[in-house]
Amino acid sequence: MGLFLFLQWLLFFPAHLTNALNPSIPNDALSLLTFKPFVSFDPLNLLSEWSEKASENLCSWHGVMCGGTGILSGRVTALNVIGLGGGELAPSVGDLSELRVLSIPGNMFSGEIPTGLGKFRRLKVLELQGNNISGRVSNEMGYLQSLSFVNLSCNALSGSIPSELYAFTLGHE
Ligand SMILES: *[C@@H]1O[C@H](CO)[C@@H](O)[C@H](O)[C@H]1NC(C)=O
Ligand SMILES: *[C@@H]1O[C@H](CO)[C@@H](O)[C@H](O)[C@H]1NC(C)=O
Repeated sequence: MGLFLFLQWLLFFPAHLTNALNPSIPNDALSLLTFKPFVSFDPLNLLSEWSEKASENLCSWHGVMCGGTGILSGRVTALNVIGLGGGELAPSVGDLSELRVLSIPGNMFSGEIPTGLGKFRRLKVLELQGNNISGRVSNEMGYLQSLSFVNLSCNALSGSIPSELYAFTLGHE
């Protein structure tokens, strides 16, 4: 493939690349390790233990909760991080396919809600309030069929909320 295409592939599929080189790292750890560099400021060093070396301890990383039993064992089911000082929400969170809770309020995140979030078929709680997230709430959010609680308030979002989301308790103001 041409150099341009190759570079493009490197840019857009870093997780896959890492995965091929490090098959021992769980996919959920890779998703979080891809999330981390999107955080531009971590004043409390909350993510310091999030590292490739410690990927076996993924379930004890700050803010990470895993399922305990069966197919959920070792899979990330909740991400709760408060206290970061800026950055963006990495599209790779959408690859955490067993995520039930995504709670990252008050982290000064800017940028848009990544489109991959529509993949969260099992997401129950989405708390993005108190960031600086802009853009529109995509219709894709309406596909989050397990969602029971959403708070998007205190951001810089524009446009309307997809009608499918009106069925839920909305924190949008
Ligand atoms: C909020 O996000 C916008 C871009 O969407 C950026 O220009 C602005 O600096 C951000 N504000 C803060 C306080 O980070
Ligand atoms: C949503 O978040 C805002 C900002 O933190 C808070 O004031 C509000 O009470 C929350 N709404 C709900 C329904 O929890």
